[in-house]
Amino acid sequence: EANRPLDGRHVIVTSGPTHEPIDPVRYIANRSSGKQGHALAAALARLGARVTLVSGPVTEPDPTGVQTIHVETARDMAQAVEDALPASVAVCAAAVADWRVDGEAGQKIKKDGSGAVPTLSLVENPDILASLSRRNQGRPALVIGFAAETEKVVDHARAKLARKGCDWIVANDVGSGPDGGVMGSTDNTVHIVTGEGIESWPKLSKIEVAARLAARIALTVKERNI
Ligand code: C5P
Repeated sequence: EANRPLDGRHVIVTSGPTHEPIDPVRYIANRSSGKQGHALAAALARLGARVTLVSGPVTEPDPTGVQTIHVETARDMAQAVEDALPASVAVCAAAVADWRVDGEAGQKIKKDGSGAVPTLSLVENPDILASLSRRNQGRPALVIGFAAETEKVVDHARAKLARKGCDWIVANDVGSGPDGGVMGSTDNTVHIVTGEGIESWPKLSKIEVAARLAARIALTVKERNI
């Protein structure tokens, strides 16, 4: 059907930050709002896709018409994505924490009055986008990553496309100003970096970026018979 071009396709979207526990009351987080990923999940559903949204902790409401799975840590997110497979398309829009605390404390870490400070040792988290892209079996036919960059946006995106093994990188300039730039903002300026080249879009609302991206995904699904 013409206005539901993604009918019958399963799409997995990750969105939001992850929280990595330090102890039962503290965690490491980042400024991702989930706005872009959630808007994309909703836009894909409007085009007929069956969407599984794997979301870290956000204040955004669950999009209508989308199955939303709530997770906290990167490892939980990786597992939820794994459990949601197979899918025709996967879009990793989450700001997954690169590191987690090695050996989170079972009890709240207390000040002992001596002025001694605790040392956090970190270990790398699983890279969800890279492992999806490099699956031998059951790789989604179209795997899309996001890249938040503060400088040399397109250069870094090209390198990331190769390193992760995904099909497209949606690169956005998050700025480095004191206001935190695009994070939590309603607007986004993105470049779509693929094996074929680069498409730079004007500054748009995240809703509009989502609609255009969903349309571009639908076109590729049709062209490549995914
Ligand atoms: O390497 P970097 O974190 O900048 O890559 C960003 C892209 O990789 C995003 O699409 C993000 O969702 C994905 N990613 C991931 N798992 C990680 C780190 C990043 O899926 N552990």
